[in-house]
Amino acid sequence: MSGGPTGALRRRDVYPAALVDGRPARNGAISRLRRQADRLLTSAGEREEAALERRIRTQPGVTRANTVALISPKGGVGKTTSTFLVGNLLAGHLQLRVIAVDANPDFGTLARLAPDHRRSEYSLADLFEHSQRFRTAAELNPYVSRLPSGLHVLGAPRDPEQVASLGPDRYGELVAFLSCFYEVVLLDLGTGVAGPLARFAIDRADQVVLVTTPEWVTATVVLEALTHLQHDRTTVALNKSMQHAADVSVIEERFRDEHLHRAVAIPYDEQLATMLDTGTYTLDALARPTRLAIKRLGLGVAEQLA
Ligand SMILES: Nc1ncnc2c1ncn2[C@@H]1O[C@H](COP(=O)(O)OP(=O)(O)O)[C@@H](O)[C@H]1O
Ligand SMILES: [Mg+2]
Repeated sequence: MSGGPTGALRRRDVYPAALVDGRPARNGAISRLRRQADRLLTSAGEREEAALERRIRTQPGVTRANTVALISPKGGVGKTTSTFLVGNLLAGHLQLRVIAVDANPDFGTLARLAPDHRRSEYSLADLFEHSQRFRTAAELNPYVSRLPSGLHVLGAPRDPEQVASLGPDRYGELVAFLSCFYEVVLLDLGTGVAGPLARFAIDRADQVVLVTTPEWVTATVVLEALTHLQHDRTTVALNKSMQHAADVSVIEERFRDEHLHRAVAIPYDEQLATMLDTGTYTLDALARPTRLAIKRLGLGVAEQLA
């Protein structure tokens, strides 16, 4: 087991006040009534969401284990976030057996998105060490964080040197092993598309989610990196989109010119960021635009499962 000083900074030190669904708790009768009224409101958004839900829930199952690589030449754009969102959606809405693996070469954060009481202290290195002895899926349970949606998360070792000793071949073995127990293996890669691990993941994956932000600086870098990651099945996540800022449709257009027709814009959403940081992610509690975007992204991946 990889020990480490994570106990030092506790979530409750950073978030001392009560939060509900990633927002400061409000108990007033008026805000309660307003929330109720919002819920009752029927709107075009509601109909769109219902249609999206139907499409997601009527997706056929998979015929074999699928590997999905989440990549970007840029850091901080939302690879880990997208891995988590897609994983939860596939597990929760499609009832697939899904595992999200932190394949960051150093200091991956994926497993920390799990609520504290669900987080496994084990990492993929521990799983490796004991993989010979597993016969059933249930025996893997202690090694993964099991989220309310049904998603399983496998963390990276805390010691970056330990990760560095795992080459692409070892990750290949890991993916092969996990494919015996899961229907979908999501790989949350570190930043970069040309390194050996990213290369392995792109070659190995059945599909790719390419993550960028719509900022010109980032999107142009991602577009230039496309030569490294041509993959028949690619979904582009345009994450942290802001209203009134960059024109996302122009960027979507550019990706379409590169034959990347599946682009999903995900709003910049502070409530989502807080939920992730507090280990309290709840899709249903997010504002509809964010919820719709997450469902669109999940559907994009689900439609390309084999
Ligand atoms: N749509 C979003 N709205 C608000 N914050 C976001 C959004 N997506 C990601 N973030 C935040 O941005 C930071 C970086 O995201 P992360 O997924 O870790 O990026 P990466 O894995 O590409 O380095 C995190 O703090 C995350 O909570
Ligand atoms: Mg990351």
